[in-house]
Amino acid sequence: MTTALAGLLGGYYWVWSRSRFVRLIDALPGPNPLPLLGNILDLLKFSPDGDPWKKRRRMLNPAFHFQNLNGFLDIFNDLSLDYAAKIERIILGTASSTGCQEIDVHPIMSLLALDLFAVYEPWLRLDWIYKLSSLYRQELQLLSSNAVAMNKIIQSRREFLKQNADKYSSQSSEYLANNNNVGEGDTLSRPKERLTFLDLLLKASEENPDDLNDEVLSNEVCLFIAGSIDTAAVAMAWFLYLMAKCPEHQQLVMDELNLIFGDSDRPVTAHDLTRLKYLECCIKETLRLYPPFPVIFRYLTEEVQIGDYILPKDITVLVNIYGTHRNAEFFPDPDSFKPERFLPENSVDRHPYVFIPFSAGVRNCIAPKYAMMEMKVALANLLRRLKFSLSDPSGPLQTPAIHFMLKPKDGKFNLIVSKRLGLS
Ligand code: HEM
Repeated sequence: MTTALAGLLGGYYWVWSRSRFVRLIDALPGPNPLPLLGNILDLLKFSPDGDPWKKRRRMLNPAFHFQNLNGFLDIFNDLSLDYAAKIERIILGTASSTGCQEIDVHPIMSLLALDLFAVYEPWLRLDWIYKLSSLYRQELQLLSSNAVAMNKIIQSRREFLKQNADKYSSQSSEYLANNNNVGEGDTLSRPKERLTFLDLLLKASEENPDDLNDEVLSNEVCLFIAGSIDTAAVAMAWFLYLMAKCPEHQQLVMDELNLIFGDSDRPVTAHDLTRLKYLECCIKETLRLYPPFPVIFRYLTEEVQIGDYILPKDITVLVNIYGTHRNAEFFPDPDSFKPERFLPENSVDRHPYVFIPFSAGVRNCIAPKYAMMEMKVALANLLRRLKFSLSDPSGPLQTPAIHFMLKPKDGKFNLIVSKRLGLS
């Protein structure tokens, strides 16, 4: 009996080891892969099912349409100015006689990114729900598993929409219908009340209770929180580090800001955003050197040919965003901070998939424009008021480490911050 079983297993292994799948895998350079281990999540059925995702994504896309983004400018301005003032108070409270102070900017950027995200969830700005946001602040890492908090948010928003039915009634469907075919050049119009992505989901869940039950809604909320807060916080902290490390580039950004704003402390407008070209180049170069998600994963549903190799279907591959961004063929002198690479005249011949901080293809980030806009406004306002430097700017740029996202090895972004003269 045992011999027969061993014979069967041996026969199965002999056939399997000569299969096309194994031959293709063996032909790939590098260490021997472990096919079963690599796809264990698929075996356990943890991988997302394509169709429900497609439906939900289609429902959510309009919420991030260009047309809706300008409505967030005021609040982006208010919040980033609040944070610039908070940092000024920290500096003044502890400043040495030199008028500057070394601080880790990452926790501050995390709070700012969290507040910027809460714009999309206005209920978090209500006092009684606000308590939840302090829970968020303390337990940011645990948020994605906090089903109870998620359910409370979903239920309270549902209740809120019911009580304000006159303002919101049937607006979601109208809004979706009206916004699905709008081009970037269309005039900016806004719905009566600002709809959040959760409102769209709640409305859709009334119409499709099976596809969008409370558990699915809760997962979507978690996905947004995980996808939006730390990414923007880390990107802004790396940007400030690079400004501190490369004062000549900080000066060029300041020249642009001075040209546009002069001594005025007015907020950033939609028109200003189109003129902040060098700042945008610096943000892009930051995302190239330090993409918050250095790698992403894709499950192959069909064979893919890459150069001389064929990747078989039914495997999970890792897309190395960090490595792609530092490929000297596309980015000469890849380890240096050179924002000029992203000037329009230097970007014309660049392949669209060599710069992919927001991923690419159908499963890319849902909110790249929103993210770029919030970062531009926040960083412009911070730099107009504060100057960033390093105690020792010599040496090469930091080599990052993966702490889920790409961060400095010790996880700290210690920068010397001082108040700029001129603006009160
Ligand atoms: C610097 C800022 C950001 C970066 C670098 C970034 C990057 C990314 C990347 C690389 C992915 C794809 C992950 C994958 O393919 O496995 C992703 C997905 C996603 N991001 Fe972002 N993101 C940023 C900001 C935001 C913001 C502000 C939001 C929401 C307000 C957001 C919401 C999402 C969501 C919901 C997904 C999942 C999309 C889906 O699976 O359909 N992200 N992001």
